[in-house]
Amino acid sequence: MNHPILSGKKGIIFGALDDQSIAWKTAEAVHAAGGSFVLTNAPVALRMGTINQLAEATQAPLIPADATKMEDLKSLIDQTLEHFGGKIDFVLHSIGMSVNVRKGKPYTDLNHDWLTKGWDVSAVSFHKLLQALYHADAMNAGGSIVALSYIAAQRTFPNYNDMADNKAYLESIARSFGYFFGKDKKVRVNTISQSPTLTTAGKGVKGLDGFLEYAELTSPLGNATAAECADYTVAMFSDYTRKVTMQNLFHDGGFSHVGVSQEVIDALMESKA
Ligand SMILES: NC(=O)c1ccc[n+]([C@@H]2O[C@H](COP(=O)([O-])OP(=O)(O)OC[C@H]3O[C@@H](n4cnc5c(N)ncnc54)[C@H](O)[C@@H]3O)[C@@H](O)[C@H]2O)c1
Repeated sequence: MNHPILSGKKGIIFGALDDQSIAWKTAEAVHAAGGSFVLTNAPVALRMGTINQLAEATQAPLIPADATKMEDLKSLIDQTLEHFGGKIDFVLHSIGMSVNVRKGKPYTDLNHDWLTKGWDVSAVSFHKLLQALYHADAMNAGGSIVALSYIAAQRTFPNYNDMADNKAYLESIARSFGYFFGKDKKVRVNTISQSPTLTTAGKGVKGLDGFLEYAELTSPLGNATAAECADYTVAMFSDYTRKVTMQNLFHDGGFSHVGVSQEVIDALMESKA
């Protein structure tokens, strides 16, 4: 898709790690739609190097920031406003990590220090980001802020582990801060609940292949890809969605509203035959 609906708009994109990342695809889509942005990721992710290619291709400055650190976020926002010579219009929070998932701890035997770390990275960082943007008065009226979520916030998926609770918290922050950002700054805050997607974070979830296949068979439109999620985010950053705020928006090919599909029933019955 190549419509310049973000022409003249400026923002910040968090979370592009490699070319599979949803944030990477979003940066490409925003660039194609005429938007300009600063790319950011945790210092350790920047050292891995591949994000430099994206920065070059999209002519975006690259500014490191650990999203759990207020001082990093404030400095990132200051540098961004200086770079653009004024306020910004959009922000993507595309950040997630669970130490318990990484280390294979089951939900019934969580390490609670790891839980706290993952909650801080995956959910509280969104509050920190919103707070830093709010106090810096960094967003233009009509601006749009999006974070990425997953349906495990509403329904149980056994191996999604403590990330399910992190996503529920993340979605709640979007509603709570969305109220104040809407009232005081006329800025939208939403989460997009994306289909399971093969990325570095996605692959960390045990049995992702099964998730993907089940979701594909369940969703009338099939799973949404990272590139399709990027297009939806472009729409959410554009002026075509000016009154959408405080929502969790399912971008999942219809998965969230299906009880069971005939394809899943057929596959089950076949396996029994
Ligand atoms: N992959 C899926 O199946 C799926 C489905 C729904 C939602 N999501 C969500 O999409 C978002 C992006 O994930 P992805 O699938 O593109 O994987 P990804 O691994 O490419 O992206 C995760 C990003 O988080 C960054 N990050 C981790 N700790 C950080 C910190 N302290 N400060 C700043 N950045 C930090 C990583 O460096 C990485 O770039 C996440 O919120 C994820 O939960 C993913």
